[in-house]
Parts: sequence; structure tokens; C-alpha cells
Amino acid sequence: MLCIDVIATNSYQVIIGNSSASQLGEQLLTLLPKAQKVAIITDDNVKNLYLTSVKNQLLAAKLTGFVYSILPGEASKNGDNYLRMLSWLAKNDFTKTDIIIALGGGVVGDLAGFVAATYLRGVAYVQIPSTLLAMVDASVGGKTAIALPAGKNLVGAFYQPSLVLCDLDLLKTLPTGIMQEGYGEIIKYGMLGNKELLIDLTTDAIDLNEIVATCVKMKSAIVHADEFDQGVRKLLNFGHTIGHAIEQLSDYQIRHGVAVAMGMAIDTRAAVNLGTCNASVLTTLLNLLEKYQLPSQTNYSASDLFEAMRRDKKRTAELITNIVPTALGKCELEEISLKSLFEWVTIGMAR
Ligand SMILES: NC(=O)c1ccc[n+]([C@@H]2O[C@H](COP(=O)([O-])OP(=O)(O)OC[C@H]3O[C@@H](n4cnc5c(N)ncnc54)[C@H](O)[C@@H]3O)[C@@H](O)[C@H]2O)c1
Ligand SMILES: [Zn+2]
Repeated sequence: MLCIDVIATNSYQVIIGNSSASQLGEQLLTLLPKAQKVAIITDDNVKNLYLTSVKNQLLAAKLTGFVYSILPGEASKNGDNYLRMLSWLAKNDFTKTDIIIALGGGVVGDLAGFVAATYLRGVAYVQIPSTLLAMVDASVGGKTAIALPAGKNLVGAFYQPSLVLCDLDLLKTLPTGIMQEGYGEIIKYGMLGNKELLIDLTTDAIDLNEIVATCVKMKSAIVHADEFDQGVRKLLNFGHTIGHAIEQLSDYQIRHGVAVAMGMAIDTRAAVNLGTCNASVLTTLLNLLEKYQLPSQTNYSASDLFEAMRRDKKRTAELITNIVPTALGKCELEEISLKSLFEWVTIGMAR
């Protein structure tokens, strides 16, 4: 097992390895000895596959498990489910010392995390991510959120988990397309700060435990430096400004990791066309996207993308933080105007 510390307002460990989830019972007894009840929040797909083994862990630790399962998919990360979960916890007399477990992908993790952040002004929660994307990104760092009809992740809190168990065995049942999205985020880590990771990804004999650990270490360092997203943490949004626009324009039919892949390609092409980075960086990125069967082009026009970005409710005033690749495994933050963003996208779409 690989253990990585995350040092934040509430510090914790991320335990990575095959069958790391089998440590759940003993870890809960050590970390949260006063707990009596555990609320397992999951989705129907993950419930059918993994609930029994998680429940057995709780049973062995003499903890009482309660289960709340949502319909799989982004649409479930909404205010209705959030409020229903709070009422359900209250109805079952959950107290300040009880625990929430997020068993699932990023949708379950974000929603359960926000429930944990706000129920009784905060109860402890454990992330058991079941997608590659959630292992390398969503489950670590304490960003929790739900959507409003006006847009994704518009309500949320920074609230760190007490433990993250990344059990690579859970990925055995993950559909190929969803696995590839995870590789999109892994390539992102390489592009924004880890040349060696990009090189490793080009080989055919990758050790996924090591790769997940590398990404979690990077995220841990970034969260330690900037837990509340005021500076360096924004680097994790590489490819995401354009990616979010693509997701939105497709009405979320194009999934997150796929849209981010397109966004990274457009951003890198813009940097190369503007002369801020060498063409070989783009070549490396495009080769990797192809290897992991991720797209590098979109059918939306530069003006479609720009309009979607302009409507982004999370934008601060007229400025946007652009993430600019400058070398292989290196990106920099740059505050730009909306007008410059339009030029950036247009240049990034040019052949
Ligand atoms: N909080 C953060 O820092 C952060 C970072 C990145 C993404 N996110 C959020 O994460 C969400 C996307 O997460 P996701 O890509 O994990 O999607 P997801 O949670 O929707 O899971 C994708 C699909 O895979 C299924 N699934 C999950 N685990 C499985 C398994 N082991 N076997 C078989 N099927 C399985 C799910 O039921 C679902 O249908 C978005 O809402 C995004 O905003 C959050
Ligand atoms: Zn992402």
C-alpha cells in the first residue's frame, strides 16, 4: 500500500493499493472511535457492485450502516438529493460523531462531501473513490459541490475528508470510456507539472498504482500550498475553462474528462501558435491523447465556446485566469481579459 499525507486545515491520509478498501473497518475504529453509525452514500451502479463488501467491513467493526443510493450520473448532484439526504440523516438520528462514506465516482464524492460539510455544520467523511478520475482528482483536496439549474458546482464548500481509500481493484468493473476520462486528468497532471509522468504514460508497461500515487502526491502538494484556490491550485484547471464550455454546450453529453482533453489540446495549440511554448509539447500531448483514445478536437466554433465561457457563473468580473503551457510538464497562470480569451480560443482552434 502507498500512503500519502494531505496537510490541510484537516490533515488525512490517502491510502492507495489493490484492496485498500478492506482497511475501512480498522481505519474507522482508529480514526473515529466515537462513531456508531455510518451513512454510506453511493449510486445504483456502485451499490450493486461494492456495497456488500463495504457493509461487511462495517459489521466487523461493529458499526451500523445506513445506505442512501442515487441514480448514476451528473444530474443527481443536485439540491433535491442534497436536501433529501440531510433529512434522511436527521430522521436516522445521525449525530456529530457519526460518519459519512462516499462510495462512488466524483458525483457521489462531491454530493456526499457537501452533505458532510453542512450536516450539523460538519461531520467526518471518508472517500472511497470508484472511478480513476475520482481517485486522482475529485476525492482528494476537499472541494465539495452540487449544481444549481443555472450551472454546475455553483454551491459548495471546502471540506476535507478524514480518509481516502483508493482501491484499484474497484476499477476492474469501470467501463472503458469512463476509465479513459481518468487518463485525461492524469495527462493534465503531467502537462501542468510533471514531465516524467508524461514520459511514463507513453510506455506500455505503466503501473497504475504508481501513477495514481504520483497524481495524488501532486494534488496533495498543491492543496497544501493553496487549499482555498487563490493561486497555484488554479493550475489544476488546465484545459478546464474550454472543457467546461464544451460540457455545457453539449448539455453534458460530452463527459468531463473527454471535454478536458479537447480543452488541453486547444490551450496547448494556442500557446504554440503564440510562441509561448515549443511545438514538441503539442506533439507529445496529441500523441498521448491518441494513445488513451481521447479526442483533441471539437466541432464547436471559437464563438460557441467563447459565449459559453462568458456565461460561466464562476467567472470573476471581466478577468479570467488562463493556464498557459510554457514547456513540457510546465504551465503558468496568467490573468487575461475576456477579449484576450476570445483571441486565445480562436488561435487555439486554428490549424
Ligand atoms: N471535487 C473535485 O475536486 C472534483 C474534481 C474533478 C471532478 N469532480 C466532479 O466529479 C464528477 C465526475 O466524476 P466521475 O467521472 O467519477 O463520474 P461519476 O461519478 O458520474 O461516475 C461515472 C459513472 O461510472 C459509474 N461507476 C463508478 N464507479 C464504478 C465502478 N467501479 N464500476 C462500474 N461503474 C462505476 C457510475 O455509476 C457512473 O455511471 C463531476 O461532477 C465533477 O464535477 C470533482
Ligand atoms: Zn477535471
